[in-house]
Amino acid sequence: MNENEQWSSRLGFILAAAGSAIGLGAIWKFPYTAGQNGGGAFFLIFILFTLILGLPLLLAEFSIGRTAQSNAVDSYKTISPESKWYRVGIMGMITSFILLSFYSVVGGWIISYLYKAVTGELTGLSSDEYAQVFGSTISNPFVSVFAQFLFIILTILVVARGVEKGIEQASKIMMPALFILFIILVIRAVTLDGAVEGITFLLQPDFSKVTSQTILEAMGQSFFTLSVGVSVMVTYSSYLPKSQSLPRSAFSIVAMNIFIVLLAGLAIFPAVFAFDLEVGAGPVLLFNVLPTVFSQLPFGMLFFIAFLVLFLFAALTSAFSMLEIIVSVISKGNLDLRKKWAWIIGFAIFIAGIPSALSYGLLSDVTLFDKTIFDLADYAVSNVLLPIGALLIALFVPRKMKKSALYEELKRGSSLKKGLFETWYFLIRFVAPLLILFVMLDVLEIW
Ligand code: PHE
Repeated sequence: MNENEQWSSRLGFILAAAGSAIGLGAIWKFPYTAGQNGGGAFFLIFILFTLILGLPLLLAEFSIGRTAQSNAVDSYKTISPESKWYRVGIMGMITSFILLSFYSVVGGWIISYLYKAVTGELTGLSSDEYAQVFGSTISNPFVSVFAQFLFIILTILVVARGVEKGIEQASKIMMPALFILFIILVIRAVTLDGAVEGITFLLQPDFSKVTSQTILEAMGQSFFTLSVGVSVMVTYSSYLPKSQSLPRSAFSIVAMNIFIVLLAGLAIFPAVFAFDLEVGAGPVLLFNVLPTVFSQLPFGMLFFIAFLVLFLFAALTSAFSMLEIIVSVISKGNLDLRKKWAWIIGFAIFIAGIPSALSYGLLSDVTLFDKTIFDLADYAVSNVLLPIGALLIALFVPRKMKKSALYEELKRGSSLKKGLFETWYFLIRFVAPLLILFVMLDVLEIW
């Protein structure tokens, strides 16, 4: 790692790591996946997975990164030389590549909507008309590919400049602003006529709708929203000075994440029911519902534009981390190489993402396992690659890192109680591998 590339403060690190975590996963993916999986039960299972798997895994990635002080691949090599564990990092790079290829498509949707909102095309429409406008936007091949391209370019520009300068500064203003706007939105949504049904949908679990598929998706969702399983958090924590507390950082990231997921749910579901929209609409859900909620606010369009800007920012801070992990491995702290590779990899991801961008238009009939290319990429990342990555990390940490050294690393800068450490160790060593395997195999119905 480059010596200079340290976060300037603990807050800087938390904001950047939280920036990676909070993004489309919490705001866009959670509501539509919960909508398709029955609501409350999915939400509850998601929270449980976040606490018993996501949080411990986040801490595991943090310990790897800060112990080794290196990128996603070399960290594994430093801790376990002469072994093949570094392939976990390579797998993380591949996962990030696929992830960003479709993530940028949704980022592009935000950009297109922003354009339409600013040019007044969205003013004064009915909720059905919003859905129509959105549908025709994302099915237009030129618009969707061009918007995806713009999103990737924004991502490249920041990653090419390097960690500290690029990512940290803007987060300090944008993230709190996003929280505030979300709270305003939730207040409006839950006071709509007929909101109660939506609140009940989100908060009252109905376990009759739970299948092994629901459980897998809730687990994938918890990894997705915390950015674990791809070694992104290994990379980010390698930039963190030794004096900072890892557990405290992990707790605050998890808390922020759960809070924003809850806010997203409370902004969307009441409106879905109040306006009689389709709760299982899939990836378009948020984009169909939110403009209607905003239209119920005074100066709604202005708020909507502000929201889209902040939402775009949240998506970008996650996208940076995906490109960052790949570029940091290849450029190894060399600034010229970083610039060059940010462009090369970014461009390759753009090309790889074009079929996903066309999945709602030209290629909407191209399906495999009953899924479009977009859905397939999303499914493969969330429900296959992230869980496998997480499983491998859970196997790596207790096997290749000394328990006493882990305790020392996690204790730095904090007064971590031994009991809490033991709980974490138990979760990582026994619960995480078994539970992840069980949930994955259960879907395959092999027993
Ligand atoms: N956590 C990000 C989000 O919710 C997605 C992500 C996953 C980012 C894995 C990096 C690595 O949007």
